[in-house]
Amino acid sequence: MDGVTVRAPAKLNLSLRVGPRRADGYHPLATVFQAVELYDSVKARPAEDGEFEITVSGDDAGLVPADGDNLAMRAARLLAADTGVAHGVRLHVHKSIPVAGGMAGGSADAAGALVACDALWGTRVDRETMLKLAAQLGSDVPFCVVGGTAIGSGRGEQVSPVLARGRYDWVIAIGEEGMATPGVYSEVDRLRAGREVSDPVVPSDIMSALRAGDAEALGRALSNDLQPAAVGLRPDLAGVLDVGIECGALGSMVSGSGPTCVFLAGDDSHAIDIATALTATGVCRAVRRAAGPVSGPRVVG
Ligand code: C5P
Repeated sequence: MDGVTVRAPAKLNLSLRVGPRRADGYHPLATVFQAVELYDSVKARPAEDGEFEITVSGDDAGLVPADGDNLAMRAARLLAADTGVAHGVRLHVHKSIPVAGGMAGGSADAAGALVACDALWGTRVDRETMLKLAAQLGSDVPFCVVGGTAIGSGRGEQVSPVLARGRYDWVIAIGEEGMATPGVYSEVDRLRAGREVSDPVVPSDIMSALRAGDAEALGRALSNDLQPAAVGLRPDLAGVLDVGIECGALGSMVSGSGPTCVFLAGDDSHAIDIATALTATGVCRAVRRAAGPVSGPRVVG
């Protein structure tokens, strides 16, 4: 086979509740993920047995490690080791998902690499195995394998799909410089020091909004426990979020650990208005529109 190309979508956390830091350093989460139509592509081509190579192109390619530290490369090696195949692979990742942007770009690449190498090598691992490998690679990787709309629990790696109606128009404001996730979680701990923090649960309002396919109710229900920490570390994000209020977005929030901010629009033309206003502020590196939910990584060529 000449090669396999997979399109891997970014994720949003429509709701992200964060519990108290665990003994292992992770935080228990109750989150609702949604995959949106902003894609990285992962191409897997045959290589000599045991040879693993990776190249990266696209937005922020220079910020992504092009060696064994790359999460897509680690995914390929893990799949080979788990299935016992001797094959190698030449991976090429083309990035559109912001790097260190709170949209699981690296995790999407890892999920894409698992799917691409599985197809290239003909290993045909079952879903359970794929999810087990994904969880070893990172907390967001299992959702990135599943796609759609799903609840995440544990440290985010335990994923159960939810029945969600509707298609939502998101506007995505990409910040100037990425933010490292561990630093944002540490800031949450610092802000909460001395306070009792309860175990996280998914709020009922977001589930009923999704079941009803009610965009206005969904906009009101968006929430992110990491937002105060992300805005504390990057005060200019407050100004970005204000654009959502000025433009009548149905909801505005920081995406995951930030600094990407997302806005829910009522329809296509509303999304254009919000995107135009965000571009005019000059504080965002790029503005994108993306509908969701979309399915997880798919082979496209
Ligand atoms: O699982 P992953 O490698 O993506 O996590 C990156 C970092 O984010 C962790 O090392 C930890 O600092 C933080 N994290 C956390 N709680 C989670 C998920 C991630 O504290 N549930």
